[in-house]
Amino acid sequence: MNDRLSTRIFGLIYAHRQPKNPDTTLIRNSAGLQLPTDFDGAPASQYLIDDAEFAKRQKTLQAVCLSCHSLSWVKGHWQRLEHTIETTNAATRTATDIMRDIWKKGYASGLERGASPFDESIEKKWSAIWLFDANNSRFASAMAGGGDYGVYAEGRFPLSTRVAELNEWLIRQRKKD
Ligand code: HEC
Repeated sequence: MNDRLSTRIFGLIYAHRQPKNPDTTLIRNSAGLQLPTDFDGAPASQYLIDDAEFAKRQKTLQAVCLSCHSLSWVKGHWQRLEHTIETTNAATRTATDIMRDIWKKGYASGLERGASPFDESIEKKWSAIWLFDANNSRFASAMAGGGDYGVYAEGRFPLSTRVAELNEWLIRQRKKD
């Protein structure tokens, strides 16, 4: 945590604005979980930096890049990164909506049944989508400008594969009912 990081690209479970306080154990989402976002993507805003601080930090980091890269290059880099944040958060939402159907149908036990939403095998597949695939895509966009790693090796391709597998799993379970 410092004065140059605006977005926390490590998604829990969505990428979100940086926390105000480095002690992230204080954060609670609207379900009372120690997470900075809800499962539908709404941020736990009272624990996260506001618009002004967000804009200030973004400018401070961009000033560092501008000492070597041109203005249009830096703008392009941020546009791509923001696009990756949007699309990976949207994929996390899609996966989480499928998972909520799975919990609702009782094919896995989540918060509504007083159980951990993270411990069953299908829940781990869902977790891998935001914890590994979405985060890998974002790190690749932020640090390397994208490329092979962010698409094929660890990024969007494994992400879309796992979302499809999660959906197929739900369809198969429904057919058994
Ligand atoms: C001290 C100078 C310097 C600073 C400061 C700097 N860069 Fe770079 N950056 C470079 C150089 C040199 C390259 C390599 C260019 C090349 O290979 O043609 C590079 C390459 C990159 C690449 C890879 C581009 C590609 O097409 O492969 C990315 C991404 C990148 N920088 C992002 C950033 C970001 C984001 C910042 C600010 C947080 C930043 N850089 C700050 C000098 C710098």
